[in-house]
Parts: sequence; structure tokens; C-alpha cells
Amino acid sequence: MPDDQAPPLEPVKVPLVKTPLTVLQTLRTARRNVLEIIPDICTKQPMVSGKTAMVRWHMVMDPTALRRVLKDNLENYPKSDITKNLLRPAIGDSLFIAEGAHWRWQRRAAAPVFSHRNIAALAPIMSASAEAVCQRLKGQPQADMFAEMVAATFEVISNVTFSGAGEMAGGDVHEAIDRFIDQSARVSLLDIIGIPTWVPRPSRLLGGNPVADMKRVADAAIEKRRKTGAKAVPDLLDLLLEGMDPETKRQMNSAELRDNLLTFIVAGHETTALTLAWALYLCAFDQDVQEKLYAEVSEVLGGRIAGPDDIGKLPYTEQVIKETLRLYPPASFISRTAQAPDELCGREIRRKDTVMLPIYALQRNEQLWPAPDTFKPERFAKGAKYDRFAWLPFGDGPRVCIGAHFAMVEAQIILASLISRYHFEPIDGKEPVPEMVLTLRPKGGVWLQVTPRS
Ligand code: HEM
Repeated sequence: MPDDQAPPLEPVKVPLVKTPLTVLQTLRTARRNVLEIIPDICTKQPMVSGKTAMVRWHMVMDPTALRRVLKDNLENYPKSDITKNLLRPAIGDSLFIAEGAHWRWQRRAAAPVFSHRNIAALAPIMSASAEAVCQRLKGQPQADMFAEMVAATFEVISNVTFSGAGEMAGGDVHEAIDRFIDQSARVSLLDIIGIPTWVPRPSRLLGGNPVADMKRVADAAIEKRRKTGAKAVPDLLDLLLEGMDPETKRQMNSAELRDNLLTFIVAGHETTALTLAWALYLCAFDQDVQEKLYAEVSEVLGGRIAGPDDIGKLPYTEQVIKETLRLYPPASFISRTAQAPDELCGREIRRKDTVMLPIYALQRNEQLWPAPDTFKPERFAKGAKYDRFAWLPFGDGPRVCIGAHFAMVEAQIILASLISRYHFEPIDGKEPVPEMVLTLRPKGGVWLQVTPRS
């Protein structure tokens, strides 16, 4: 192939800042794309500290320090007020934002819900959604695979939370989630660098609560289920209704159930759709990877849709998903607030300092990953070595994502099924642009050429 036709070596990435930004520049840049406020040196250094508008902040990329923040000294680093203020209006004091004893009992009560056995029982819902998207793609030579994946994962999450049955009108809830995320994202750039809370935020001025309808429908669904009893195959609502903290014997009341189910929807729906959309973009970008993946899935599936029994037989599919989560982590920026003085990487941390975990920069850090911007699923092959705290798409420690296994199973079922039925290619001039709006989204969607495999 002549040089001018050679494919680009690296998939799309976010341009990180090379010179320090003033407060105004930070605000302006973050409004465009929060990821762009991450200094480029975060991909080269273990830790970068600074001060913006009187707020001391640190961006941590050193695995040992990250272990301390997320695990060994967890109590000192609760989720930042930023995160909590952003999410509380939609998901109350649920698992995602609660701290201390109130978090602990909820986590213990919810943990069995996400056991491997329960997820295997729910997997047929994931297969049905994979079949539906394969049907929808018929006769579509080009498709926005991000929109398709949002539809597919929404179907899964709404069916495993409230088992559909008209209890929740998919379109309405999706719109409510979208409006909520859009609104909160506009706030986050002010909060993320710690501008005081008395500075008016656009969404707080707008008033109204875009998720009120969603809460009403969820409340009604819970009350109905209490009366009708569990389904033959228990869904997440049934499992959570039964859930009990083994230590305190406490069970969730209706409001706690509702807040946690809405948390699962908010935390689990778009994140998994993004993983799948970016994975498909990468497969189209690197045809060799796609062919290797096709070889694996056609051997295991022989053209049928993947199911729970195939998980474990699709190692390369899993590697592709893990590498996608490295390059495009949906939650690419996590932040904490220090409660007491500490030391990270030999540097002083003061009470109230903002400690940021720029997962995007961590997972592209040159000291941790060779050729970090290239797409190489083999990095995650069996026996390959990497620092556990250098790959944190689901966080780690006690607050690690409770839905990680659920998401990995869902992503494998949908990706394997799609690749076994269709071939994906890029479309000239329609490259996605990674943009951080609370999650790392492909601006403009992921438009791909879609050809059925005969
Ligand atoms: C690829 C998909 C997903 C990604 C990348 C992801 C990412 C994350 C991350 C990074 C955290 C930790 C946040 C922090 O420490 O500040 C988290 C926590 C959480 N995630 Fe996920 N998540 C995904 C899917 C899901 C799914 C499918 C569910 C539920 C159905 C879910 C429910 C939660 C909950 C409840 C927490 C809070 C856990 C706690 O604090 O105890 N997530 N997720």
C-alpha cells in the first residue's frame, strides 16, 4: 500500500494542554471539553499539582499513590462534593454517593444482586437486545453505532431493572437521563476545579428537576412489584427487594430502592453503550483486529447470538473490550476531597485539597504503558503484565464499580454478536471526536459502514 494511503497509526485522541492555563482559559477550555484541561505532562509524570482560584489540586497517575487513595487510605478520600452535588438530585444518597456506614450497609445489601450467578440468569436479556440491534442494522449501509448502542444498552438496563412491561416508558426515561446529564455537565466544569458553591450555576438557575418524572414512574413500579411479587427470573428490582445487609439485617425502604435502581440506570447505561461504540470504532479503525475477532466469534458462535455460556470462551473479545476501556474510559475523570493531611508521591496533601484521578491520562501514561496511544488488545492477553492500579476504568478498592462484571458480560455478548454478523468500516470525514461531558462521548456519534457477513 503506498504511504499516502497508509492508515493512521493511532486512533482519535483528546489534545491535552501543553502550557499552564489561567482560570479563564481553564473555564473556557473545560466548557468545550473537560478532558482538555488535563495537562499533557499527566501522560508523562506520576503526579501534577497546581492551584486554580485558591483551590489546591493534584492529578495523580502513580499506581502506588492511587492504591492509597482508592484502597489503603480510602477513609481520607471520600468522593468530592462536586461529584455528590452533581448526582444527588437524580440518585439521592444511594450507593454511588453515600459514605461511611450508610454506604457500607447498602453495598453489602446490593452485592449479591450482582453475583455471577444472577448476571448469568439475566444474560438472555442481553442476548435479546443483541439480536434486536442485529435486526435493526439490516438494510442500513451506514449507521451511527453510538446511537444504536445507547438503544441496545437502554433496552437491557430497563428490562433488568423494571422488566419493561410498560412500567417505564423507555423514551421518556432516556430523555430524562439525557436532560439530566446535559444539565449537570454544564455545571461540572465550574465545580471540577472547585469554584465556590456560591457562584451561580446555570442549571441551578434554570430550576426544575428533569428527573422528577423518572422518580415517579420508578416509585409506582416498586409499589406494584411489592404487591405482585417476584418474576420467574428475578430482575434487579426483585433481587434488591430481597437484598439484606447480612450484618445489620437492614433492608432498603422504597425510596432507597428507587434511588439505587435509578443509580444503576444512570451509572450502567451510557457507560456500557460508550464502551461498545468505542470498541466498534476501534474495530473499524484496525481491520486486522476485527478479522482476528471475527475468527474467534465465528468459531465459537457459528453465526448465532452470544449467550451466557459463551462468556469465558471469547478471550480475544474480552481483550478488545479491556483495551477499549483503556483508550476511552467512559468515566475518565474521578475526583476526591482530602479530609486530613497526607502524603502522595512524597508530596504534601492538605485537608480540603482536590485529588483528581484523571483515568484517561493514567491509562495513556508513557511510564506505565508502552506506545500508550496505540490500539493493542494483546496488552490484556492471558499472562500479560500490567500494574493493577494503572488500569482503572471501573475504579478499584471497596468503591470499585459494583456493575463491572455485569458491564463486561453485556459488552461481550453484544460485541461478539455484532462482529459475527456484520463487518464495520470507517466512513471518510466522519471520525468521532472524544469529548468529556461527564462521560467520555464520541462527538458526532460513531458513524460506520455496515456490511452483513454472508
Ligand atoms: C463499562 C461500564 C461501566 C463503567 C466504565 C463504570 C465505571 C464506574 C466507576 C469508575 C466507578 C467508581 C467511581 C469512583 O470511584 O468515583 C463506578 C461505580 C459504580 N458503578 Fe459503574 N461503571 C460501569 C457500569 C456499571 C453498571 C452496568 C452498573 C449497574 C448496573 C454500575 C453501577 C455502579 C455503582 C452502583 C457504583 C458505585 C459503587 C460504590 O460506590 O459502592 N456501573 N462505576
